[in-house]
Amino acid sequence: MYYETMLKEVLGAQSLRGPSMKNEPAFYRRLEQSMDAAREKHALNTLKPRWDDSVLDLTTSDFLSLSRSGRIRQAFQEELASRGDFRLSASGSRTQYGNYDYLLEVEREVAAFHRAETAWICHSGLLANMAVLEAVPLPGDAIVWDELSHASTSLGLKLSVAAHKISFQHNNIDSLRDVLSSLKETDPAFKTGGKSVLICIESVYSMEGDICPLREFVELAKELFPAGNAQFVIDEAHSSGVLGANGAGLVQLLGLEKDIAIRVHVCSKALGATGGVILCNNTVRSALVNSARSLTYSGAPSVPMIASIRAGYKLLMNGETQKEQEEVQNIVKYFFETIMAHPVWEEAMDEGLISVPLAEDWETRPFHSHIVPLKLRPRHEHYLFFHMAMANMNAYPISYPIVPKGTGRIRLVFHAHNTTEEIDRLIETVSEWVLEMLEIERGESKNTVPSAARLGYSIQASLLK
Ligand SMILES: Cc1ncc(COP(=O)(O)O)c(C=O)c1O
Repeated sequence: MYYETMLKEVLGAQSLRGPSMKNEPAFYRRLEQSMDAAREKHALNTLKPRWDDSVLDLTTSDFLSLSRSGRIRQAFQEELASRGDFRLSASGSRTQYGNYDYLLEVEREVAAFHRAETAWICHSGLLANMAVLEAVPLPGDAIVWDELSHASTSLGLKLSVAAHKISFQHNNIDSLRDVLSSLKETDPAFKTGGKSVLICIESVYSMEGDICPLREFVELAKELFPAGNAQFVIDEAHSSGVLGANGAGLVQLLGLEKDIAIRVHVCSKALGATGGVILCNNTVRSALVNSARSLTYSGAPSVPMIASIRAGYKLLMNGETQKEQEEVQNIVKYFFETIMAHPVWEEAMDEGLISVPLAEDWETRPFHSHIVPLKLRPRHEHYLFFHMAMANMNAYPISYPIVPKGTGRIRLVFHAHNTTEEIDRLIETVSEWVLEMLEIERGESKNTVPSAARLGYSIQASLLK
């Protein structure tokens, strides 16, 4: 079973290394000792062995199944074959030799698809977010970001020369209003347009699975900054391919292309390729060329990378991912419908054992994200993770500090390849765990820890001996 291999690798990596390094060079000993702090809490981040398709997939970023089905590979091979005797490497930065015609042609196509003035293709979405924050805000400007933004935003903040870097409460318009108003009070240049604000948001948040109230945010920025000196960068990592006509993303779904200065799409998720796309106008593009060292002090993407991106985009543009996009919506709705109707569910929620905020009002939403967190008490995310792993399904537990202190969660990711039978199996497995926990809570069991977690911890104990 996959879970045995995985537990052995993950838990095996938690044995302390520092004490056995007394005679090793101090350089490596100190590194191991610094990681021992995480190992002591069994929280060292580790690489995971890859599972095969027999494990129920509630984790991967292959939302549209383009990778698993081989469709992106086939489209990529055809695209690459059409390139003839291409030079594999860009052989330089884009400010030097690396700015080749094929890359520019694909950028123009991608920009047209997204109804943007220009598109810049770079190595990853992470890099794209960092580069925007490195290059766009000027000295004295402000960056305002949603507190649940992806790590690439916090990395970008470190590169930025902006004078003000302030977060607002997740998806909360009142909090955004407070932060923006406080900037105007701090410095009159924000009122007159002498300084600018870049507001960082995401269409779908990767840990909450909720969707940003974009239209309201745009209206607020226009109201508070009529000079147009407050603009947005939106990370569409989780809406690329999944939301909007032909998977073009949330901005296009809402028809807000003209109101959003910068959109970042990623190709490593639904598209089944790799790379980041920065959609912007020519002014922002020039600022990237001029000031984003994270982009220009690096070789440009290679021809195979661009071919894989074009292959993915062609599938979107030709409507060939439409069916999968609908399947994702249908499977998420099926999950909500089934879990809410399950007899154990009400009890689990009443007892405060588990909650699925996105399921509670799902019928009121016109579209759904493919990410659905099961919110739990702290430590229970590990218990449920073990229970699901032993039922041959994979969804990762997320703990503090990634989620707020005193909480834990299992992050479910749904895909076009998930079937209704799989969802039934998932819900039965979660319900089994709930029933076992209810027995423990009511003192009807001699155990204090559920069975799968006991087994997992015993494997851990044998590995740590
Ligand atoms: C919200 C968000 N932005 C950016 C990224 C980074 O994308 P990429 O894999 O292209 O670096 C991710 C990937 O985890 C993400 O979830």
